[in-house]
Amino acid sequence: LLPPPGAPGDPAGQPLPVESRPFASYGSALHVALPQPPRAGQLLTLEIDYEAGEGPGVCWLAPEQTAGKQKPYMYTQGQAVLNRSFFPGFDTPSVKCTYSATVKVPEGFTAVMSATSWEKQKDNTFVFKMSQPIPSYLIALAVGDIVSADVGPRSRVWAEPCLIEAAKKEYDGVIEEFLAVGEKLFGPYVWGRYDILFMPPSFPFGGMENPCLTFATPCLLAGDRSLVDVIIHEISHSWFGNLVTNATWGEFWLNEGFTMYAQRRISTEVYGSAYTCLEAATGRALLRQHMDNTGEDHPLNKLRVVIEPGLWGVNPDDTYNETPYEKGYCFVSYLAHLVGDQSKFDAFLQAYVNRFKFQSITADDTLGFFLEYFPELKEKGVDSIPGFEFDRWLNTPGWPPYLPDLSPGEQLMKPADELAELWAADGLNMEAIEAVDITAWRTYQLVYFLDQVLQKSPLPEGNVERLSKMYPKISKAQNAELRLRWCQIVLKNNLEAEYHKVKDFLHSQGKQKYTLPLYRAMWGGSESARALAMETFSATAPQLHVNVQNYVKKILGLEVAE
Ligand code: BES
Ligand code: ZN
Repeated sequence: LLPPPGAPGDPAGQPLPVESRPFASYGSALHVALPQPPRAGQLLTLEIDYEAGEGPGVCWLAPEQTAGKQKPYMYTQGQAVLNRSFFPGFDTPSVKCTYSATVKVPEGFTAVMSATSWEKQKDNTFVFKMSQPIPSYLIALAVGDIVSADVGPRSRVWAEPCLIEAAKKEYDGVIEEFLAVGEKLFGPYVWGRYDILFMPPSFPFGGMENPCLTFATPCLLAGDRSLVDVIIHEISHSWFGNLVTNATWGEFWLNEGFTMYAQRRISTEVYGSAYTCLEAATGRALLRQHMDNTGEDHPLNKLRVVIEPGLWGVNPDDTYNETPYEKGYCFVSYLAHLVGDQSKFDAFLQAYVNRFKFQSITADDTLGFFLEYFPELKEKGVDSIPGFEFDRWLNTPGWPPYLPDLSPGEQLMKPADELAELWAADGLNMEAIEAVDITAWRTYQLVYFLDQVLQKSPLPEGNVERLSKMYPKISKAQNAELRLRWCQIVLKNNLEAEYHKVKDFLHSQGKQKYTLPLYRAMWGGSESARALAMETFSATAPQLHVNVQNYVKKILGLEVAE
């Protein structure tokens, strides 16, 4: 316990008794005994000396696990409850604080953090300060052989040297427009810089919205800017999630549902509603697949999830699925629909951010503010319209009672729907198929087409082989979203001749949302698909993030160590 600033006492502080007590399966509690009970509002300064090493929040990669394969790498991933293995603290999104850090790294390495200022001092020491209060899960560090390149007035990309050219090419001149549209819609961007760090291939997420410095999978470097929606998503968290934060992980949809809505608002402004509705339709397909897999009534298919504290409660990390994203998006779209006027709803979103910025809130705060902001809706009792009650949205599992209109995407979806029909027929009508020219289709149109084909799979004998030969643009794609869908189709149709593509894809990256669906498909498939799963997992397991490793083990019925 350090003496208060300016007060007498040993500047080295007074040692206190500490004890570790059981808390949850995903961490223990550090109890510190104070000499006397503190007064309310009293400032206490504790200095905690600790070492972090093993633990799911801090990832240590060997050179072979990086893109360049020359030097080791380390990074942290805090969300949801992993930063407790990085540093002791109040690891809950309901508490916000500023932070600073001094990081000394070996010669030839660079450290970066989610901080508003970054300074390199002598002896390979980096000093960071985050001057805005943030929840603990947004504190992030990465150290590696990384370099940077400017891509905008307040943005640069970071990556290993072998990826930096590709990263610069993919994002040069595009980030600023997303930030500017975000500011126009949701208010000032308070974080100063918006930089992106491209991670080693095993990074388990598409993107992670660490403030000032998004961490992103290198899969986004598709060469044609086709996967920017992930970056627009992470930028949208600058307002929804990072400024206005869910107070508990049981209401994760407040972060992700509002962010999906904000992402699609920015996308509509930049790319128009046809393209954005098409992207939203692929999101809806993912929600459909998820609910089919888990059963609509699964307790995790509610927006408000009960996370019991204690040793047997739900681990917040296990609530990462499509429901908070896409059902959350539907609920926010429903609120917009109740308002009926896009510009009024945009103004509400901006007022909402302004009202709750730098705070952690619950859905009750959000919905209370909504009704307060639109008193005429409150008067009408919109929170209790039968079938659409706010309470039902939050607490009843299942398919969303309201779906936003995606018909502006029809012009892009209809040709894809029709082509999928043709490919699903017994006895292919090649004349009709050849009449459809897909060379000009954008990635998301192909993704949408493949989702339809997957839904109709297994196709009649021989059709998938022909499809594969006819469209090398799809079956030999390098784009990760296309590869995922193609691998799913290969497995669902038991196309053993192309199993190697599943294996290659799983060897090339470790994103959770790509890895788990493929293992589920393999495990639910033929004997040879199961063998492929086992063989691929034993070869790639050491490269995967421990959480992803454990989820795969569960799918394959292997033992998970506590
Ligand atoms: N914050 C999430 C990633 C996350 C969620 C990490 C839960 C740990 C626990 C991030 O913003 C995200 O949603 N990423 C998506 C992007 C997509 C929805 C465009 C991803 O990684 O796929
Ligand atoms: Zn997100």
